[in-house]
Amino acid sequence: MLVVIKKDYDEVSKEAARVVAELVYEKPNSVLGLATGGTPLALYQELIRMHKEDGLDFSKVTTFNLDEYINLPPSHPQSYHYFMRENLFKHINLNPRFIHIPSGMVDVNDINRINRYCEWYEEQMEKAGGIDLQILGIGANGHIGFNEPGSSLGSRTRIKTLTDSTKEDNARFFHGDLSQIPQYAITMGIGTIMEAHWILLLASGKNKANAIKDTVEGPVCARVPASILQMHRKAIIIVDEDAASMLSIEYEALTPDLL
Ligand code: PGA
Repeated sequence: MLVVIKKDYDEVSKEAARVVAELVYEKPNSVLGLATGGTPLALYQELIRMHKEDGLDFSKVTTFNLDEYINLPPSHPQSYHYFMRENLFKHINLNPRFIHIPSGMVDVNDINRINRYCEWYEEQMEKAGGIDLQILGIGANGHIGFNEPGSSLGSRTRIKTLTDSTKEDNARFFHGDLSQIPQYAITMGIGTIMEAHWILLLASGKNKANAIKDTVEGPVCARVPASILQMHRKAIIIVDEDAASMLSIEYEALTPDLL
């Protein structure tokens, strides 16, 4: 695991975009794992700029999103389908056939069908040749995707119940109204995420400092799902000074040539 500390959110995002662009230039038919939330927004804006100004070509790229809320239709402004369309997809030249986001429109009572659907989602990743680079944010509680504390470190794509702390963190996207937040989500598992060839976890802000400390310097444990990245040979953690403020060891200020 490589830890890189940048000055602020803007620098974290630009560095992450540089890594993603490097991969896409090198391997135009890359398979990217994508994340939602506040953290990757500026990364996506930078990729859009690179597409428009530098001709970064996404036409052969395949994407798989990490997760989706259950029971929010794709047209709902807080669904991750909507998020991805508005914040990335409609601004670049991805082939719509190569875009994958878990469907949130499943019946929570039909667990067999959900399990089959999750298996199908995993098969699509396998057929695409696996994920070359998975982008991740991190929850203040150390979650990755919707793999909340206590998730099995070997888990695969499945339905998960959101914890209260995640609901509170995400309430800002639902006008602060906890009752509007879905109770369940479909998420890639920790085992699924760990199969990506490269992993790029981004974090910014003091509210992530604890989670980053536990992830980087704590024991590997299910209480902090992101700590499993210590076991990944090609995981890069890019954080700003605020998110790094509780780390006790000195880390890199420079990202070496990564790919
Ligand atoms: P955030 O969420 O980027 O909105 O802080 C990250 C996460 O919960 O994974």
